[in-house]
Amino acid sequence: MNNSSHPYNKVSSLKWLGILLAFSIILAACAPQPAAKAQSVPGTVAYTLKTGMGDGKMVFIGVGGDIDGVENPDLKAQPGDMLEITLIDGDGAMHDIVLPDLGAASEQITGKDSQTQIHFKVEQDGTFAYYCSVPGHRQAGMEGKLIVGSGSAPAAATAPSIVLDPANLPEPVGSRGPQKVMVDMETVEVEGQLADGATYTFWTFNGKVPGPFIRVRVGDTVEVHLKNSISSGMVHSVDFHAVTGPGGGAVATQTKPGEETMFTFQALNPGLYVYHCATPSVAHHISNGMYGMILVEPEGGLPPVDREFYVMQGELYTQQAHASKGHLEFSAEKLANETPETYVFNGAVGGLTQELPLKANTGETVRIFFGVGGPNKISSFHVIGEIFDRVFEQASLTSAPLTDVQTTLVPAGGAVMVEFKLEVPGRYIMVDHALSRLERGLAGYLLVEGEPNPDVYEGEAQPGSGH
Ligand code: CU
Ligand code: CU
Repeated sequence: MNNSSHPYNKVSSLKWLGILLAFSIILAACAPQPAAKAQSVPGTVAYTLKTGMGDGKMVFIGVGGDIDGVENPDLKAQPGDMLEITLIDGDGAMHDIVLPDLGAASEQITGKDSQTQIHFKVEQDGTFAYYCSVPGHRQAGMEGKLIVGSGSAPAAATAPSIVLDPANLPEPVGSRGPQKVMVDMETVEVEGQLADGATYTFWTFNGKVPGPFIRVRVGDTVEVHLKNSISSGMVHSVDFHAVTGPGGGAVATQTKPGEETMFTFQALNPGLYVYHCATPSVAHHISNGMYGMILVEPEGGLPPVDREFYVMQGELYTQQAHASKGHLEFSAEKLANETPETYVFNGAVGGLTQELPLKANTGETVRIFFGVGGPNKISSFHVIGEIFDRVFEQASLTSAPLTDVQTTLVPAGGAVMVEFKLEVPGRYIMVDHALSRLERGLAGYLLVEGEPNPDVYEGEAQPGSGH
């Protein structure tokens, strides 16, 4: 059947169309502008937060509205909104509230029930941290999020990790006799994650920082092959401090992109040695991540331990200030002035905390091979809450170790081997005890699991410890 040939249907359709049309005109004339738009008209959004202790840490607690009683509540706003945040001191300690991404910071307040207020405008979608900038308070838990619009920031900078796993070491050489050992390395320039929201073009050995841990024994003849990736923009090389010979191998390994060089050396002196790229400007190549270590075991090897770790310290000189977001650029001027922005263990901020912490159990003995790539800063190496039972100072493995040491000094381009037993479970923080560097990215965790040991340590964790 054909509908269009049916007269009744046609009249009926036209009549309904007319009614609908008239109704629409009346609606349009009487109604205010569409309700949906009224919702997105920018306005003032007010929040009140009170500082306090909750669940064993320090927090901001929401006051009133949807966030009442919520710890570190998500604050919400739309692009174009004016924000008004009132901070009330609920515990009497000194506090403030800052949102550095949005250029907002309150004054610091002290004393119970003292107050402060900040006003600022949000312009674009994104998720922004708010926190207390009093040293240690953010780490103790005073941190939350302001979500503007959809909450997704325009393109947060991400790149693959360049952090070398600190547990990634070859097996001990042990008691074998001297032999020939082949070492293959490749220099690669990669964009990697430097910190949360920040990327950097690292220059590496084998794509990670530090480069691979190389393990030989005294008397071994080592044949080194250095390949420079075809995708490299620079010439690279390698200088092993374990080498007796010109440039530690650097003279023989200046390698153009896409090419390969080689040299051989006999490992005459046992010890733990740094290696690094030695192509001018050497400090620039090292800073960008071109360092690692080679262990030359003494005859008979090292005494066995339960766990070995490989950790190296370095510093980065970026044009942008520490904690900047986006792709960060190298600064030759800051390198020349030895004023780094960021310090790192194993290449990246957070590399040995969130990403790849060291892990062990109570009752175990650990050995850390620790070196400073630098290029410039010495390290006052320390593990918070532990004492080094043995320190092989300057990484000399043929001298008697120092015993019972708190902090050991490691020169730029130098190393140390430390050993200690784990008696008490918990989170131990590796630092350079020049602690301003902790605020610039330099921290690593040693996570120790096991039963509490109250004979050795007993105490309840208090809020604000940052541990
Ligand atoms: Cu605070
Ligand atoms: Cu290089």
